[in-house]
Amino acid sequence: MREPISVIGAGWVGLVTAACFADLGHEVTVRDVDAARIAELEAGRVPIHEPGLGELLGRNRSRLRFTTSSAQLFERSGLAFVCVGTPPTYSGDADLSAVWQVVDELPTTKDGLALIMKSTVPPGTGVQVRGRLDARGLTQVAYVSNPEFLAEGTAIANFMRPDRVVVGSFGSAEGDRVAMLYQEFAAPIVRADVTSAEMIKYASNAFLATKISFTNEIANVCEEVGADVTLVANGMGLDQRIGPHFLRAGLGYGGSCFPKDVAALKQLAGNSGYHFQLLTSVIEVNELQKRRVVGKLRKHLGSLQDRTVALLGLAFKPDTNDVREASSLVLALRLLAEGAHVKAWDPVAIEDARPLLAGVQLCEDLLEAVSGADAAVIVTEWNDLKALPRPEVRTAMNNPLIVDGRNLLDPETVRRAGFAYEGIGRPSSPVEGRVAPQPLELAEALARSLAEVPAG
Ligand SMILES: NC(=O)c1ccc[n+]([C@@H]2O[C@H](COP(=O)([O-])OP(=O)(O)OC[C@H]3O[C@@H](n4cnc5c(N)ncnc54)[C@H](O)[C@@H]3O)[C@@H](O)[C@H]2O)c1
Repeated sequence: MREPISVIGAGWVGLVTAACFADLGHEVTVRDVDAARIAELEAGRVPIHEPGLGELLGRNRSRLRFTTSSAQLFERSGLAFVCVGTPPTYSGDADLSAVWQVVDELPTTKDGLALIMKSTVPPGTGVQVRGRLDARGLTQVAYVSNPEFLAEGTAIANFMRPDRVVVGSFGSAEGDRVAMLYQEFAAPIVRADVTSAEMIKYASNAFLATKISFTNEIANVCEEVGADVTLVANGMGLDQRIGPHFLRAGLGYGGSCFPKDVAALKQLAGNSGYHFQLLTSVIEVNELQKRRVVGKLRKHLGSLQDRTVALLGLAFKPDTNDVREASSLVLALRLLAEGAHVKAWDPVAIEDARPLLAGVQLCEDLLEAVSGADAAVIVTEWNDLKALPRPEVRTAMNNPLIVDGRNLLDPETVRRAGFAYEGIGRPSSPVEGRVAPQPLELAEALARSLAEVPAG
């Protein structure tokens, strides 16, 4: 009989953790403070888009229980995975209020209670939690750091076949209890003290974000010197010291993790008296990268005033409906500020983006989004968009320009299909039979657009 477990927070991490442990044979109780979310789950509906999650939850329904009650949470188990959100505050630090709420609501009477932190928390948090538990007289409650490394879109595979499992503990026995849960995984289990375990998570995300910003800067230089970043990244990635992952140029990273974790690590360093210069640049490069499309559009269209731009993809990456910190949001608002009409399409994230995109025409249908557009911008590399350069899209557009913000398409194929192509860090190509605007025309267009800006 496997040890029953509890999961606190029914978001991406909580639901994937619950579904996977249930699939491994554990009885799992999931608690969330969001009553609507719990009602959805009880009714068999999955409140997020994550491939395979609905099937896994359905298959293990008999082992899963969903509740809003903290009392029910600990009825069957004292082994509680904390999977609540740790969003950024205005200061860039992590907002740990949900974590503190969990700590303060812990029952005092339950034996064998262990809090296992899967939420991403700044190094030093575990020591603070330990202090708060002890101050409440809960010295018998164990605390273990077990950061989660899953990526949305591939979360179940990442959970079931992780590269490593990190277990940080104050004492070896409590760490052993958590490590046991993962014993049948083939992955190495990295044992550490709590603060080092917390730092492994932050350092990993910060390093991946650094790789992305580095590649984006290389892409920008490639544009200047006429190189192709996709070839450069391939050539770099074959070097085993570098590795092939996260070397894809694009419109910058987004999502619920990288931006907030990189910012939180930078703030944590600053609060501790260290200026983390590299991360400051990583963040700045990422912010500028989201806006580079505007320059590319101007290069082809001149002023964007009253031009229609179709943004294809709103989610921060494919196979998720998560739009938190998505590049699409910055780009859409930047284009609106340029006076453009913005239309946008996404296969799953329209409703998530709607409250954030006032003034943008959201389209359920891809052809509707590109209809009348002067440019179509690939913002998220959805698989459906691989078939974008096709005759009905060209016919529907007012001007056949594709700006491929994720280097999803083959430039030559796009050009042969009658579109002008502009990627990231690759040579651009005008549509066959058309000539791209010359610098003088661009200067004139810019002068006209400046003249249109009201004084003051
Ligand atoms: N999403 C990812 O890809 C990912 C990957 C690795 C780590 N993480 C980390 O895991 C944590 C959770 O991320 P997420 O994306 O699943 O968040 P999420 O926002 O999708 O879900 C968090 C859930 O916690 C619930 N919650 C808040 N306070 C609660 C409380 N006191 N008791 C019970 N439930 C409560 C919320 O209602 C929400 O449903 C974060 O720290 C995040 O940084 C996320």
